[in-house]
Amino acid sequence: PGGPSPAGAESGVGAPGRAAIAARTLRGDRWWLQPAATFVGLMIFVVYATVRSFVRSAYWVDSYHYLSPFYSPCLSASCAPGSSHLGVHFGTVPMWIPLAFMSLPFLLCFRLTCYYYRKAYYRSFWLSPPACAVAEPHRTYGGESRLPLIVQNAHRYFFYIAVIISGINTYDAVVSFHGSTGGFGFGLGNIIIVANVILLWLYTLSCHSCRHVTGGRLKHFSKHPVRYRVWTWVSVINTRHMMFAWITLYTLILTDLYIMLVASGTISDPRFVN
Ligand code: FES
Repeated sequence: PGGPSPAGAESGVGAPGRAAIAARTLRGDRWWLQPAATFVGLMIFVVYATVRSFVRSAYWVDSYHYLSPFYSPCLSASCAPGSSHLGVHFGTVPMWIPLAFMSLPFLLCFRLTCYYYRKAYYRSFWLSPPACAVAEPHRTYGGESRLPLIVQNAHRYFFYIAVIISGINTYDAVVSFHGSTGGFGFGLGNIIIVANVILLWLYTLSCHSCRHVTGGRLKHFSKHPVRYRVWTWVSVINTRHMMFAWITLYTLILTDLYIMLVASGTISDPRFVN
């Protein structure tokens, strides 16, 4: 990604030595379709997640202990009674701060610096470039070697935090096996919550940084059989990282939406064990 000026005569595709082609691109297919679809798909999530993270309503089903992932962990006195699985460690929080302020900023940074999402939003939001063989509207190219984009290199640290948060989501899923009269209970909400947590783990562990953590910087795999074995497992899901990136955006929406509908009394949760 580079500066915001239009393609000039002296640089980019207009630089000396480049073929003088007047057309914006010689591609005859609908190359704009993929960046446009990516833009719409990401914006739906951004708008939904932003609204839901701030509204502070219908995020907790007290009778079944269902907690929306957009409110986990809930650690302040502003949280609905019973929703603070890890205890109340902060006083009341003003409305402009989301209740999951200990997790959402890190999850946002984890996704923003993700290798796949970088490709997605560089193309669909920043048009740098929008597609192969389509010139970008920027005159300069700064890459990711200086501020602000050098921050993308912090991805591996956000990965470590995301592992902890996935652990907290897993704990939430365990807590949700709660019957309406106490003890063990199990309903459709549990299936949705557990499926979401499994997919979040698949997204998190298929991260390229995870693959590097497990098998990177080794000269001889034969001397590190355990790391080699784990690296081969991570490599299998790593090839589907983009798929998990998309699926989890929408399982997060589905999980939150379902809990919102049950918590608000709009639908009732079908119970298999009460
Ligand atoms: Fe996508 Fe790490 S989460 S590369």
